[in-house]
Amino acid sequence: MADDGNGPASAMKADLETITSLAKQRGFVFPSAEIYGGFAATYDYGPLGVEMRRNIRESWWQWMVQGRDDVVGIEGAIITNPDVWRASGHVDAFTDPLVDCLQCNARVRADHIVDGVCPSCGTKDRFTEERDFNLLLRTSVGPVADEGAIAYLRPETAQGMFVNFENVLNSTRRRLPFGIAQIGKSFRNEITTQQFIFRTREFEQMEMEFFCHPENALDWFAYWREERMRWYQSIGVRAEHLRFRDHDEDERSHYSSATTDIEVHYPWGWSELEGVAYRGNYDLTVHQEHSGKSLSYFDQQAEEHIIPHVVEPAVGVDRVMLTLLMDAYDEDEVAGEKRVVMRFAPNIAPVAVGVLPLSRNDKLLPTARRVHDVLRPHFRTWYDDAQSIGRRYRRQDEIGTPLCVTVDFETIDDDAVTIRDRDTTEQIRVPISGLVEALRGRLHELQPAVDDPAPIPERS
Ligand code: GAP
Repeated sequence: MADDGNGPASAMKADLETITSLAKQRGFVFPSAEIYGGFAATYDYGPLGVEMRRNIRESWWQWMVQGRDDVVGIEGAIITNPDVWRASGHVDAFTDPLVDCLQCNARVRADHIVDGVCPSCGTKDRFTEERDFNLLLRTSVGPVADEGAIAYLRPETAQGMFVNFENVLNSTRRRLPFGIAQIGKSFRNEITTQQFIFRTREFEQMEMEFFCHPENALDWFAYWREERMRWYQSIGVRAEHLRFRDHDEDERSHYSSATTDIEVHYPWGWSELEGVAYRGNYDLTVHQEHSGKSLSYFDQQAEEHIIPHVVEPAVGVDRVMLTLLMDAYDEDEVAGEKRVVMRFAPNIAPVAVGVLPLSRNDKLLPTARRVHDVLRPHFRTWYDDAQSIGRRYRRQDEIGTPLCVTVDFETIDDDAVTIRDRDTTEQIRVPISGLVEALRGRLHELQPAVDDPAPIPERS
């Protein structure tokens, strides 16, 4: 792969075209409304895609909320009072700088142009003046579509946490520091949307606002950066594909006083996967000003009212999914034949255990069905008896199933089956009576190792 001028070439084995094609063929991601010619930068998720997205959300929620005692969840409205977006600065300042190419009329983001070259037609230095383009998607609410009815589809889930700060504080009787987390759809009228599901107009975010005392907010910022990197370890993203990058002062969002991106080395260069932002007390302050309601917190240690500061890790489900698809793609050789294998971690793989009778022979099928029934309550399973066993192993490898269980003619006599490992292709024989335990143990062994957590910041 070519060097992108941004460090060494990506170590990823797949390009975007390969992943887009595999995702469609195997049922991860489809172009939206394809029978009508699709719709720009909009995708539908297929049977394997939805399983994978559930696993991503589940793992994030476990890591950020259920596995801790200092973070709680909410689900806010997608369309809410437009004053929220006036106060947050999105109506005025949520813009991208745009220019038009005078040669091909393509509308492109000025900050995405490299060396004055149009990314659409390659012409150099022939652009209109730069102007700001607001990314909010508008709708109208109620029977009359006049100015007073304008509302917005939320461009981030974060504001739902800020406007509910007081409600969560009062209903859960929390003390600082604590976080509020949310997973949900967000919408932006994005202009540059080339890289498959990397940047779309409708996407799903996983965000957490961590409210803390200003005195140790920077320590929490450092803590959450590490904690987020550990999550990527836990879902199996290879360390060599990830890095931290601190934002320069002039590229930070209007609310942020420090931001670090977790970046991925995609085939087109290093790009943002997740942002970890230190938002200061910007959001609570502006909502207090605009709503006229106090959003202060009485700090018993200091015996004073303060506006808490906020550290925010924010990422998109779709971008995590693209990263996992690209990162997990591998090609090797098995029995002299090339195979494509998705090396998903077990907690992310859409199917954890494939159940495959050796053939469609009548003697095998009832036992294979019985084995599937035994496993179904415990794992995400997939039963497949079409085509040769070799073809079916390849299919499971290509969708990243870590383990397959094969029912053969010996099973009828010894009530045992074979477990086949995706990565090593090794097979072991296990009695059906101990199969659930054996699979659980093996899936656990296959989970990637994770570094120890950073110490929890203390206040002096
Ligand atoms: N609340 C802060 C916020 O929304 P952001 O950097 O604009 O910050 C956070 O978005 C994350 O959401 C990004 O790092 C990315 O993973 C995801 N994201 C943002 N815009 C996206 C889009 N148009 N398509 C897909 N994912 C997007």
